[in-house]
Amino acid sequence: MRVERVLLKDHTTLGVGGPAELWTVETREELRRATEAPYRVLGNGSNLLVRDEGVPERVIRLAGEFQAYDLRGWVGAGALLPLLVQEAARAGLSGLEGLLGIPAQVGGAVRMNAGTRFGEMADALEAVEVYHEGRFQVYLPEELGFGYRTSRLPPGGIVTRVRLRLRERPLEEIQRRLAEVDAARKGQPKRKSAGCAFKNPPGQSAGRLIDEGGFKGLRVGDAMVSPEHGNFIVNLGRATAKDVLELLRRIQEELPLELEWEVWP
Ligand code: FAD
Ligand code: EPU
Repeated sequence: MRVERVLLKDHTTLGVGGPAELWTVETREELRRATEAPYRVLGNGSNLLVRDEGVPERVIRLAGEFQAYDLRGWVGAGALLPLLVQEAARAGLSGLEGLLGIPAQVGGAVRMNAGTRFGEMADALEAVEVYHEGRFQVYLPEELGFGYRTSRLPPGGIVTRVRLRLRERPLEEIQRRLAEVDAARKGQPKRKSAGCAFKNPPGQSAGRLIDEGGFKGLRVGDAMVSPEHGNFIVNLGRATAKDVLELLRRIQEELPLELEWEVWP
């Protein structure tokens, strides 16, 4: 187990966030010890806005045995989703194509029920193992209250591993699906971001609403509403959480949008 003081801006895709104590755990026993005091779980940090003051709790990161995976067996919650999408396609296993381009760890993708209009994490799950209150318990997906970018894990629950629901399909068919998802993501910016900032209101696109509201290109410090896609806030280099929060405030002052990101603390 490694415990270190870090800046969370070095561990989030948006590149924003202050100090924290990072606990990297590699075994179940280490996970038990790390959870003996108040904690938060970090996945790949791709849906987080961490404040400049940082967080007081331990921040737990899953490594070691939690990153091991077998596509036909258990897949560690610390494994990177983009790697699994690629490996499954190579092995002729279909079910993860809709998740192409989501830079999550498996645990973070389960927690957020990450997805695109081509499919969500919940669709690809057969079972989910969760650690909470000192026990490792296996749940069926229907027990976890999955919805649009949401789940109902037990409070403080940490996803430790999952079994995927994949089926053998011809390689060309999988490649065709991947190409379709890739094409749908073409309009998304390449700069540092945390994906879409807001959830889409039913039947609408937050990005389009922000675009129509004239917010694209709006800048506070180094945080900017992407000129390419209105629902992405990008970090041009040295953005702070304060800059990003001010942009969110200005948008939400005019548009009743619900945040998709999680703000720490
Ligand atoms: P983090 O951001 O680290 O954490 C998110 C939440 O999950 C936190 O509450 C955290 O505590 C919790 N968590 C993390 N790991 C665990 C665990 N093991 N057990 C329990 N809780 C855990 N999202 C989409 O849905 N669709 C997209 O198309 C999409 N595109 C994106 C594109 C880009 C370029 C970026 C940067 C982000 C995008 N996102 C997208 C957002 C993001 O990738 C997802 O929300 C993803 O699920 C976050 O996973 P993570 O591992 O990074 O989690
Ligand atoms: N649009 C605009 N202006 C913009 C952005 C979008 O007019 O600035 C229009 C597009 O032209 C399109 C419509 O709005 O007609 C929808 O846009 P898009 O296809 O880009 O999809 P989205 O609804 O903005 C959703 C997810 C993305 C996911 C894509 C692909 C949400 C909040 N966003 O975006 O997920 O990658 O579909 O399926 O659900 C995320 O959740 O972080 C994320 C990136």
